[in-house]
Amino acid sequence: MLTGYHWLYVAAVAAVGLASVARTAFYYLLRYFTDDVLGSGTLGSGALGSGTLGSGALGSTTAVSRLPWVALGFIGLALFQGGFSFFSGRWAAETAEGSTRRLRDYLYDHIQRLSFAYHDKTPTGELIQRATSDVDALRRFYADQAIGAGRISLLFLVNFTALLTLNTRLALISVVLIPFVLATSVWFFRKVSQLYEEFQEQEAKLSTTLQENLSGIRVVKAFARQAYEKDKFERDNFERYRRGKRLLIMHAVYWPSTDILVFAQLILGYFVGAVMAINGTITVGTFLAYLGMVSMIAWPLRQLGRLIVDMSTGIVSFGRVVAIIREDREPLDVGQHQPTDPLRGEVRFEQVCFGYEGEGETAVILHDISFHCQPGQVVALIGSTGAGKTSLVNLLPRFYDYSSGSITLDGVELRDYSRRYLRQQMGIVQQEPFLFSRTIRDNILYGVGRSVSDAEVEDAARAAAIHDVILTFPNGYNTLVGEKGVTLSGGQKQRVTLARTLLQNPRILILDDATSSVDMETEAVIREALETLLPGRTTFIIAHRIQTVMAADLILVMDKGRIVQSGAHEELMATQGTYRRIFNLQSQIEDELEQDLARVSG
Ligand code: UTP
Ligand code: MG
Repeated sequence: MLTGYHWLYVAAVAAVGLASVARTAFYYLLRYFTDDVLGSGTLGSGALGSGTLGSGALGSTTAVSRLPWVALGFIGLALFQGGFSFFSGRWAAETAEGSTRRLRDYLYDHIQRLSFAYHDKTPTGELIQRATSDVDALRRFYADQAIGAGRISLLFLVNFTALLTLNTRLALISVVLIPFVLATSVWFFRKVSQLYEEFQEQEAKLSTTLQENLSGIRVVKAFARQAYEKDKFERDNFERYRRGKRLLIMHAVYWPSTDILVFAQLILGYFVGAVMAINGTITVGTFLAYLGMVSMIAWPLRQLGRLIVDMSTGIVSFGRVVAIIREDREPLDVGQHQPTDPLRGEVRFEQVCFGYEGEGETAVILHDISFHCQPGQVVALIGSTGAGKTSLVNLLPRFYDYSSGSITLDGVELRDYSRRYLRQQMGIVQQEPFLFSRTIRDNILYGVGRSVSDAEVEDAARAAAIHDVILTFPNGYNTLVGEKGVTLSGGQKQRVTLARTLLQNPRILILDDATSSVDMETEAVIREALETLLPGRTTFIIAHRIQTVMAADLILVMDKGRIVQSGAHEELMATQGTYRRIFNLQSQIEDELEQDLARVSG
């Protein structure tokens, strides 16, 4: 996770170490100053009392001459410590910012490469939460907590070693309660980790609710469900508040409980130190240095406890981010077969079965699908909603993989092609059109891997019967779509996505209900344009209107995941079955409509 920043981070920790060495050296200098400069210089002999201090006058000339050096020493150490603290902070921040920036980039790239199946089962809000809030917790972890823990551990080590050289007994007494502080911290660490994880989960749920309500705002308003959605949001929000409060209370309990331990430790050390100084076991300078050093042990340790507890957030977030990273990417480039000749577009399905992965058992959605189409043919799929038409065509670009049977493209098993190649060869107009908040031109150009002239863009738009509409917009092709620009109607969106796919000039064209939101007249225009464009490319058309599918070479009538009828229009009309029933029904409705219209206008 720190790749590329390892050394900078090591440097940051080293700088922090040097700064803490300087800090400790400061107390050594203080001892030297007190005992050898201020005091008589008789180390170890001095009983505490005015006599000892006063006797310093004996060697006053040498002592005074040493004063500037001592002062220089203090200044030097302060500069040294300040400088290294500064660099350590800077480098740690750089590591944190840099590595999380990269992590965010990586996560985004990774998330968009995960399989359809993963995205089907993962709420968007959850992913957003992990890519933002959790990554930020990691940033804090690197910027403050980890470096802080490093600094404090080093401070502790350096000061403890220094204390040991000062006076072993005193040093050991100064840390007797430390294990208790650490044990308490670890216990709280576990608690806080768990609470924080619950908190993050709830927050992710809240983001999901928010995100879903906002994208579904029209539905919410249409059904006048604002009050219901508000209640739902408030419930989720309250739960977040409750969990947040539990987390805070846990912190609030933790702080004083370790503070008491640390205080007890300090007082114990002071007391023993003072007694030793009075008894003359140690000098006043040693005692002064001890006071400084012991506070450099105790307070950092208290800090360390807090950091350990705070680090739980970073560690939990780390786990949540890693869980995404562990997910396998959809391998785009796996698959040996990469023909150099253009695809001919012969497709053969043989007893294909397929089901979406779900919790536990996967229900079979497509049963025994078999059909064959020649290069350049038009295959139409028709059937009731939920029959499996979209599922069937989604197998072609390998959005999902079939579980049994075989699909061959130009005689080669689909699994042997790389996904990237298949998707480059296939153009899909999806059932739910989606446009980015960019200009119309950018939307049409989306995914075209070659340079395209304006004339070509316009031709594609003409074929999709959207060119004239685009010209009526204020900025024509440069009109922004979405929040900051025009909002397109459903049919207009569909036609822009159709133009986008046509411009891609794919060998295999898949139109999933591509004209469902378009009026009959416009549809006829599109159909005509398509007829001139279609020759040479295999086309799959999913539609509900018989007129759209009539001209197809092969019509597959689907019901409940099976092909119940297949053949050309005439064949299907010649036999009793679903197709003829749909045809008669639609013709009847149209006749009635025409009669009604005639009556109204007549
Ligand atoms: P389809 O989406 O393939 O049906 O779903 P369809 O024929 O295209 O229907 P319309 O005309 O667009 O409405 C077939 C079945 O697969 C399930 C659906 O519940 C449906 O029963 N399904 C679909 C999933 O389980 N998961 C999905 O991601 C999509
Ligand atoms: Mg569908």
